[in-house]
Amino acid sequence: MNTPKRYLITAALPYANGLKHIGHLAGAYLPADIYVRYLKAQKRDVVFVCGSDEHGTAIPIQATKEGTTAQAIIDKYHPIIEQNFKDLGIEFDIYHRTSDPLHHETASAFFKDLEAKGDLETKTSEQYFDEATSTFLADRYIKGTCPNCNHPEAYGDQCEKCGKSLSPEELINPVSTLSGQAPIKKETTHWYLPLNKHEDFLRQWILNDHVKDWRAAVVGQCKSWIDGGLQPRAVTRDLDWGVKVPLVSGAGKVLYVWFDAPIGYISATKQWALNNGKDWTPYWNDKETKLVHFIGKDNIVFHCIIFPIMLKLHGNILPENVPANEFMNLEGDKMSTSKGWSIEMDDFINKWIKKDNGGNGLADSLRFYLTAIAPESKDSEFTWKGFQESVNGELVSIFANFVNRTWVLMHKLCKGKVPAIHIEFLDDEDQSILISVKESKEKITELLEQYKFREAQFEVINLARLGNQYMQKKEPWILAKNMETDPNAQAKIDNTMHACLQLCANLAILINPFLPFTAKKMCYMMKVVDRMLEWENAGGFNLLKVGYSLRPPELLFRKIEDEEIEAELAQLKSNLNAKKTTMDNITPAAGPSDAKDKGLKPEIVFDDFGKIDLRVGTIIEAKKVEKADKLLQLEVDLGSERRTILSGIAMHFDPAAIVGKQVVVVANLAPRKMRGIESEGMILTAEDASGKLYFVQPTEAIAPGSRIS
Ligand code: MF3
Ligand code: ZN
Repeated sequence: MNTPKRYLITAALPYANGLKHIGHLAGAYLPADIYVRYLKAQKRDVVFVCGSDEHGTAIPIQATKEGTTAQAIIDKYHPIIEQNFKDLGIEFDIYHRTSDPLHHETASAFFKDLEAKGDLETKTSEQYFDEATSTFLADRYIKGTCPNCNHPEAYGDQCEKCGKSLSPEELINPVSTLSGQAPIKKETTHWYLPLNKHEDFLRQWILNDHVKDWRAAVVGQCKSWIDGGLQPRAVTRDLDWGVKVPLVSGAGKVLYVWFDAPIGYISATKQWALNNGKDWTPYWNDKETKLVHFIGKDNIVFHCIIFPIMLKLHGNILPENVPANEFMNLEGDKMSTSKGWSIEMDDFINKWIKKDNGGNGLADSLRFYLTAIAPESKDSEFTWKGFQESVNGELVSIFANFVNRTWVLMHKLCKGKVPAIHIEFLDDEDQSILISVKESKEKITELLEQYKFREAQFEVINLARLGNQYMQKKEPWILAKNMETDPNAQAKIDNTMHACLQLCANLAILINPFLPFTAKKMCYMMKVVDRMLEWENAGGFNLLKVGYSLRPPELLFRKIEDEEIEAELAQLKSNLNAKKTTMDNITPAAGPSDAKDKGLKPEIVFDDFGKIDLRVGTIIEAKKVEKADKLLQLEVDLGSERRTILSGIAMHFDPAAIVGKQVVVVANLAPRKMRGIESEGMILTAEDASGKLYFVQPTEAIAPGSRIS
């Protein structure tokens, strides 16, 4: 394989609309960082770019949620995310942002170039327009029923329930999330990238040239897109947040976020070059550059189909590979920040790393586990128990244990210095450990070149395991007891400890891409400069000079205790409940006392309201709950199903008198246990000034299960 002249490595630009979780970390940033550290150790010419994706509707939508401006949102999250990456050892050469003028310039020029060459098409069509707010509605601002699964809350670009990509036109009963009104259709003109014209190119490039070296799942997704027939794709939007369309006829429009964001990789490279007195152009124009995009699987179409077409048209190089990862789930469920079911990088850093005296052993512990379960070929699962087992069982008891024993024994039996080798006493074991190091380095190198980080890291741990076995066989501590009877005991001890030390030095080099903080600590213990970590140094037994005195051992990793894991699990559950309670608060609380007028609750957007699924139900049974004065247990007919619902209305209604009544039910409220009974929903009531309760009812009897909106 020819070594490329230079590398440009990108990791997906995260949206600066909120904290990022460890699933994001494992998906794109950590593997990219491992790869880059490996390349840099190989002394390759490499630039690693990333930055905030600050456009698209995700940002203004978050601004509405937080009651602030889009600008304030990006200014809040950009620096936090940047610092989070640093704390976890993700070392970009530049962390840029798409709100930067340099990016706006770059993206505008890119668009203008394609437009001038006739590579874009314009088309006037009718699109949804919200009259109440006088705005064309971006896909994310339209909701309706999914034509595929009937989910009532599908967005104009995707149904989050069944995962189907949608266009707003496909939604049944669309409504604007801004005003809650049904939108009208209005004419508007947009620029399109005719993907269909590039089908032959894509077939050749992906399904032929790269069918073998790209991950099967990536090729598979591309194939299904191409086989499904590519359509022209709009690259502009009627929106006021983003890169302005640089044409008079484009007034009031911006570039579609997925058009401008990947160009952010180029702007970032330009900014890096400016900062470092370098030329950015060969990184994007010279065929001898190897471009690799690290992403999660939800970004495949943009990085393998749309952006490559843009790059080709603009005259840039194409990616050599796009090693997209699958998803990482958490304790049996999909990670989701909004549902409270996730571990934010920021939380992990504050809770584990900062509280542990800045113990960056823990940053490496997290890196280790995430790579050990990297979702390279299928979805994987983070569990706190798994984290504990992985750290305690492999990092602490194998890797750190070997290094620590070596250091302790070397100080005890070899005066804290690298002992000499006594050739006449070298045996097969010594020989074979040296061979293992060489083989292991080759294997790890090959795996890294193939983006198989999980296996590569496993090999490093295996090498440490071999070290432990070797030391166990040699038992230098037994030899030390036989000094008087065996005149060659010290020579044999020296040989063993020499080999163990050289092996540790090799381990530092090989673990460095994965666990950079650990490798640094090991360099400190060996009193060597970081240059020792260069890849070419691995594979031999001449890294540490005989007679060189070494520092005492450092603590590399600490054990993770049961209580810590239990606390994390409890925290996760309570996060989830806290988010649910926020939901409960939107609806009247169970008891009337709560409903005493406190003025209006804070304003919500239509989106918030739209989350609540209200249905007409008919009460078919009602009884008191034992030992609970206020609770009634109701059986409610919801048309397609029956629900048990507990309601705090026992002081107000006689159970016998309410059977047959129709009520309004919050049908998608998470179930809650009270008095050992699970309540599967909630009944709406109204309360007058005297505290009397009334049911909220349809004016005439209608079919149970009817939707209320
Ligand atoms: N912001 C996008 C996401 O988080 C990723 C953008 S990648 C880029 O899914 F290529 F467009 F920059
Ligand atoms: Zn659906």
